[in-house]
Amino acid sequence: MASPRGVVITVPTLVLSLLGAAIFLFFLFFSLSSCNCPAPSAVARSSSPPSCGGLCDSASGSGVSVERVRTSVEDIEWVKDQIRVNGLHMAENVLRKGINPRTRAQQLEDLRNFKGISHYEEPEASNHTALPCPGELLVEEHHSNYGEPWAGGRDVFEFLAEASHLKPESRVLEIGCGTLRVGVHFIRYLEPSHFHCLERDELSLMAALRYELPSQGLLHKRPLIVRGEDMDFMKFGSKVVYDLIYASAVFLHMPDKLVWVGLERLASKLKPYEGRIFISHNVKFCSRLGGEECTRRLASLGLEYVGKHTHDSLLFNHYEIWFEFRRSKA
Ligand SMILES: C[S@@+](CC[C@H](N)C(=O)[O-])C[C@H]1O[C@@H](n2cnc3c(N)ncnc32)[C@H](O)[C@@H]1O
Repeated sequence: MASPRGVVITVPTLVLSLLGAAIFLFFLFFSLSSCNCPAPSAVARSSSPPSCGGLCDSASGSGVSVERVRTSVEDIEWVKDQIRVNGLHMAENVLRKGINPRTRAQQLEDLRNFKGISHYEEPEASNHTALPCPGELLVEEHHSNYGEPWAGGRDVFEFLAEASHLKPESRVLEIGCGTLRVGVHFIRYLEPSHFHCLERDELSLMAALRYELPSQGLLHKRPLIVRGEDMDFMKFGSKVVYDLIYASAVFLHMPDKLVWVGLERLASKLKPYEGRIFISHNVKFCSRLGGEECTRRLASLGLEYVGKHTHDSLLFNHYEIWFEFRRSKA
């Protein structure tokens, strides 16, 4: 009904309009609250592609990356692009402005003859260095001790971390960790004191403890590194259960008998079913017995062979061969 001063709305019309608006708002609110879009905080925390490109927080099922391990295709494309846009090529490494190329031997000689550029003289010389490191280690001679590029340690870590579904809270034992070529990557990734190692070589242990851990800022990770060569794991404690036990380029240097002693002592320290033992290069300690006898012997220890893997290096034309074992009984 029109009135001279404006539009007049009847009461029933008003009630119906309000009811319609309420129903519309109810459905709008319901559809928004039931949207399964990611929460803003989860999106912000996610640092990797949907596949996680490495390790995911599978325990929470959130798909949120704990800490990515494997180099992704995107990472490789990015760094290739950086090399390209900066116009970089391998050129002869000669003396040039601000650059003084030295071999390790020359560096060591310089260190002995001239010490550091700025240094304290006697008697102050030994008062300012908390952890004096031998010159041989400072020039990283130990990075050449195993005849293979040091960088390959990262390849080993990435393979083992993925294959064993490593998490920061996992417990890991390396047999023969040497100079921590592989171990530093585990130590950095794992929670404090979760990396254990048994190593027999004094020089390697010196390099690990006097150079690698302090120079990589990893002393706070308190790895348990024990000197020994008899596969004696008593010093690691009787209650420890490992998620991963590995031997990288070690068992091939050991007498078969010692390898079997080690496996016998380690079988009960491996987490049943999910825990893994990985052995690199070959398993001649096993094949020399003959296939069936080896399987029988493993079974008597509660272990079983899972399979063989190869893993390509990121930086050089090389692949590692790994043999996987698990504990088949609780
Ligand atoms: C080729 S190096 C590999 C080091 C390290 N796993 C890596 O991949 O860089 C072999 C290491 O095994 C150690 N090793 C050999 N026999 C051993 C034993 N019976 N007990 C403990 N360590 C041993 C050696 O001292 C050496 O450090």
